[in-house]
Formats: sequence, C-alpha cells, structure tokens
Amino acid sequence: MRSYIKTLVFAIIILCGIWYLSDPVSALDVVKKPELIAGLVVLLIALIFNGKITNDLRKIRYEKLTEEEKLKIDSEGDWLMKTYKKLLGSKPIEEEHEIILDHNYDGIKELDNDLPPWWKYGFYISIVFAIAYMFKYHVFNGDTQIDELNQAYVIAKKEIEEYKKTAKNLVDFNTVEVLTEESDLKKGKAIFEMNCVACHKADGGGGIGPNLTDEYWILGGGIKNVFKTVSEGGRDGKGMIAWKQSLKPIEIAQVSSYLLQFQGTTPAEPKDAEGEIWNAENESN
Ligand code: HEC
Repeated sequence: MRSYIKTLVFAIIILCGIWYLSDPVSALDVVKKPELIAGLVVLLIALIFNGKITNDLRKIRYEKLTEEEKLKIDSEGDWLMKTYKKLLGSKPIEEEHEIILDHNYDGIKELDNDLPPWWKYGFYISIVFAIAYMFKYHVFNGDTQIDELNQAYVIAKKEIEEYKKTAKNLVDFNTVEVLTEESDLKKGKAIFEMNCVACHKADGGGGIGPNLTDEYWILGGGIKNVFKTVSEGGRDGKGMIAWKQSLKPIEIAQVSSYLLQFQGTTPAEPKDAEGEIWNAENESN
C-alpha cells in the first residue's frame, strides 16, 4: 500500500514539474504533446513496477524477522506512520501524567500539550513567506498580477502581428485593410492587368466597367466595399463577376489596394462618373 502512495506522490511531483517547466497556458497544451504523454505513461508504469517490487521485497524481509522484531515493527508502523506521529507531537498516553494541569472540572481534566510541530513549522514558514512577500511587492515593487497581465497582452499583440504577416490569406470583407507594401501593390498591378483592364482600362479610366479614378462609386468606395465588390461581383447582368472564384482573398486585397491608387489621377479617356460621391465617413454604413 505504502509504495503505491509513494508512486502516486512521485507521479504528481513529476507532472507538476513538467507543467511548470513547459509553462502551458492550458491543460490542452500538455495533452497536445504526444511524446510527453508517452514518456509519462512509461514513467508511471516503471514507478508501479518499482513499487510492486519494493513491496514484495519488504514482505520477504518481514517474513524472515523474528516474532519480537515483527511485533516491534507492527507497533511502530513504517516511516510514514512514524513521521505522522512525530508531526502530531502528542504525548503517548503513558506519559500524559507529565502534562496534566491541576484543575479538575467535574472529572474533566486538561492536558497542556505543546503545539503540534506541523502547525508550528507551518507558522514559521508563513512568517518567512510573509517577509519575502513584503520585500518583493512592497519594498522592491515587484510586478503585480495586473503588470503581468499587461506584459502578457503586449507579447500576445506582437504574436498576433507576426501571425497576421504569415496569414494574410485570411483577410475578408471585415478585416481587410489597404496594403501599402511595394510587393503587394506590384502583385495587385499584375492581377489588374491580367484580369481587369479589358473592362476598366489599364489606367482605370473605365470602358465596359465604370471609371475607377473618380470619387464616384456605384457600389461604394473604400477598401472594404471595393474588396466586397471584387470578391462578390457587381449587380446582376452588369458584367462584373465575382472574382472570389478565381482569386485568393489576399489577391483580391492586393488588386483592390492597387486600384484604389487610381483615385484622383487623370486617365487618358475617362468614362463619365457613375454612382455617388464616396467619402470615408460613409464607410461604416
Ligand atoms: C467583363 C468586364 C469586367 C471585368 C473583366 C472587370 N470588371 Fe469590374 N466592373 C465591371 C462592371 C460592368 C462594373 C459595374 C458593376 C455594377 O454596376 O454593378 C464593375 C465594377 C467594378 C467595381 C466597382 C466600381 C464602383 O463604382 O462601385 C470595382 C471596384 C471593380 N469593378 C473592380 C474590378 C477588378 C479589380 C477587376 C479585375 C479583377 C474587374 N473589376 C474586372 C466590369 C468588369
């Protein structure tokens, strides 16, 4: 029995150690690492076997003892029992007369026991802890939980930025922003020249499709609306198809960013303005 408790305690200590070292955000992070789980299972099996062997050995050794020694061991218990008794610190019944107080209430007497050692040591430890705590947080102004939270936010923000860089393809109507990087605009230009010039002209002046250089928009200006128009297409029967079939989200964002640069330029043969004047305040509508 004792060795199984030991096994369990060991396993818990090891688990806590791994937990602490791998610094997981949630229990899932630990579960997600299969090699860790496999290692733990092997360790646990090893511990159980070890426990079983020591248990058997102890039994064999016990059988070999003389009756007297057996009795002594039985009465004292093993180290677990012994430490437990020690921590309680109570006097054995035979010695109780040494600590009995000399009053007597209707036959009820009082023992003047010492404080149990487990309590006393716990108290000392809490004093040490309190001093360390006071110095860390009130003298040297260590990081409070709020500070730690804010630091975690800063790190998380950076990670999101990093993630966004590698996940540009995830843009949609709601998250799209004007791309300003040279490489994106270059790609946008290439896409525009390959797919759109037939109807919108290379300079955006318009033909079958409307003029993209003026501030008049049929379907709404600004990156969000343009992104939506390009991916979902124009009104039925007008000839502007939904490009999401053939262009990736990032490509739509690139070509939309590129064509917004036509704003305010003067094309060779501008088509008459169509739609309404767009200003950015309307963007939220
Ligand atoms: C077959 C001709 C055709 C092609 C090719 C074409 N468009 Fe269009 N486009 C149109 C027409 C027609 C409209 C007007 C739609 C409407 O009135 O609903 C339009 C509208 C638009 C608008 C909205 C303009 C506004 O005033 O609201 C944008 C932005 C646009 N096109 C971008 C593109 C892009 C980018 C491409 C290439 C990927 C492209 N178009 C390819 C015909 C075309």
